[in-house]
Amino acid sequence: MAKSSDYRLGEFDFPRGWFMVGESAEATRTPVAMRYFGQDLVMYRGESGQVYVTEAYCPHMGAHLANNTTSYIVRDGEQVEGESIRCPFHGWQYGPDGACKNIPYSDFVPKAAKLKTFPVTERAGTIWMWYDPEGLEPNFDLPNFGGHWDEPGWVRWRLDFMGDLNIHPIEVVDNMADFGHFVPIHGAKDFVYFANEFKDHIVHQYYAAGHRTLVQNPDDVLTLDTWYTGPSILQSEMEGTFDSFIMITHTPIEDGKIRVWHGLMVQVNDGSSPITDELRAAAAEYQEGSRLAFAQDVEIWQNKRACFNPLVIPNDGPYGKVRTWYKQFYNPREKLPDMHKRSNGLHVTLDKRASSAAA
Ligand code: FES
Ligand SMILES: [Fe+2]
Repeated sequence: MAKSSDYRLGEFDFPRGWFMVGESAEATRTPVAMRYFGQDLVMYRGESGQVYVTEAYCPHMGAHLANNTTSYIVRDGEQVEGESIRCPFHGWQYGPDGACKNIPYSDFVPKAAKLKTFPVTERAGTIWMWYDPEGLEPNFDLPNFGGHWDEPGWVRWRLDFMGDLNIHPIEVVDNMADFGHFVPIHGAKDFVYFANEFKDHIVHQYYAAGHRTLVQNPDDVLTLDTWYTGPSILQSEMEGTFDSFIMITHTPIEDGKIRVWHGLMVQVNDGSSPITDELRAAAAEYQEGSRLAFAQDVEIWQNKRACFNPLVIPNDGPYGKVRTWYKQFYNPREKLPDMHKRSNGLHVTLDKRASSAAA
């Protein structure tokens, strides 16, 4: 596996940001084991409905807080009470802030008995945790996915699991600058415009081109604004047969290995009439088309070698600029103002708008 240090990304092995760690249905009052960021973690849902993510191993003697079936604490259903989690080994109980609040056989509770916890947000049927190599609170918000989850007339996504890939996430983020792959991989044709805009923790890709099959009339131009918010969340509002909203996200499991999901929400009517089963089926089929387009990228990633220094030609997109932007998430916050100054701005790879308007 090619690692963050091989790409010379910065001081940290894993980036700062919001990361998807599962779907809402996976978080229940039975704690589950997870592995992300090279760490064993545990996720559970408190009685209030709030989801929590903590380190997996109890500070007392190192028992795993989720991987147990035979302890009486597990059998008696005492693992999660209120918002707290109890260890199956000796029954120490930890509150939502991670502090130990009860030891069944001792009034003395040491201060060091504290589980590491992570900020968690649940949104649009998915669970997200904030990972920060410096252990700080979030410095940007989890996106609200266009607000479409609760919008009348929209069919919610049912996420596609795209697999655990042995590829560093930088090679996925490279796609933002990858002007040259749209024709061979995705079936684009007749490019009109391609540009990237960098704004602090966000990078946009502005795209206008024809397409072999996706457009209704052969001369139609597909116009897309696609953006990353932080190192792991791609979103795009798309117009087409239906208006739709795409989300692609990837979370590091180990340094150089990621878990990838894809989802599409589809507007099937204006919200004034009910969404029929036929419309739901049409939305699912539309999502499948989007998944297949993304799977074209995934197949490349699954089979390529790591690329530390692209052999760039002048007509390629700005891989280097995207990589410079991406490095901010692997470096301490004190460096952010300088790094933003260096990467912010608009880079136009191709602009034929004037000539195509004249034609
Ligand atoms: S190891 Fe968890 S309570 Fe002892
Ligand atoms: Fe792509």
